[in-house]
Amino acid sequence: MAQKRQARKQSASEKKARLQQALREGQRIVIDLDFADKMTPTEIKSLCQQLLYCYSANTRAQNPAQLIFTSLQGAMSEQLRKQASGLDNWVVTTHAEPYLTAFQDKLPDLVYLTADSPHELTSLDPSKAYIIGGIVDRNRHKNICYNKAVGQGISTARLPIQDYLQMSSSPVITVNQVFTILVNFLDHKDWGTAFETTIPQRKQIDASNNGKSDQKIEVHIDDTEKESEHIEKKRKLESSSDACT
Ligand SMILES: C[S@@+](CC[C@H](N)C(=O)[O-])C[C@H]1O[C@@H](n2cnc3c(N)ncnc32)[C@H](O)[C@@H]1O
Repeated sequence: MAQKRQARKQSASEKKARLQQALREGQRIVIDLDFADKMTPTEIKSLCQQLLYCYSANTRAQNPAQLIFTSLQGAMSEQLRKQASGLDNWVVTTHAEPYLTAFQDKLPDLVYLTADSPHELTSLDPSKAYIIGGIVDRNRHKNICYNKAVGQGISTARLPIQDYLQMSSSPVITVNQVFTILVNFLDHKDWGTAFETTIPQRKQIDASNNGKSDQKIEVHIDDTEKESEHIEKKRKLESSSDACT
């Protein structure tokens, strides 16, 4: 029992050290939280749950990313604080202002990830900061992130999903799936492994059956309530012996 506790403590302090190192020199991944006015309260809640998954995936990674939240203010900030009681202890960088202000001297570093981009991501460039659109909309707002980035003169890229998975188009996946794929890529340096370990087989099949070649589909994991509960329970258990979460 004491040995187990000691092992848990050791693993928690290793995780914390990795996250703190990532905060200084890890791959920058920005989550753009500037879409509260485009979502219903339920969608905001769902997005906040996805941010919890992102943080949880980052704490588990061997090579965590430097996780950055921008536009964390107003309704988004309030809801996230309700769902993530330990937010103030999270090893993340937060900005109340939008990424254009937070990165004003480094705009050429920014790459907005969007399924609508004509450019396919081949690898992750350590000098870039990759932006994920923090929105849950069941793809009601088509091209919203692509149009935003193009309007601001920011580079865009899409994940190379259809090269590695059985999908007929570049599907729109959830924020936490995109984040987890990127973190898995940082760990394995291989897209195939990153996709396969993130997107469940059933979802791959559903997506390939339903997707038409010229249509973007959104693959949701919001309905996996049991999975959410399990992850949240595990996270709470870990955080009881882990000062970094
Ligand atoms: C649920 S999606 C947003 C859907 C939104 N209607 C749109 O058109 O952008 C959330 C975010 O995940 C990222 N994303 C989703 N699928 C992607 C893909 N296939 N390639 C790159 N980024 C993707 C994008 O950053 C996107 O803003």
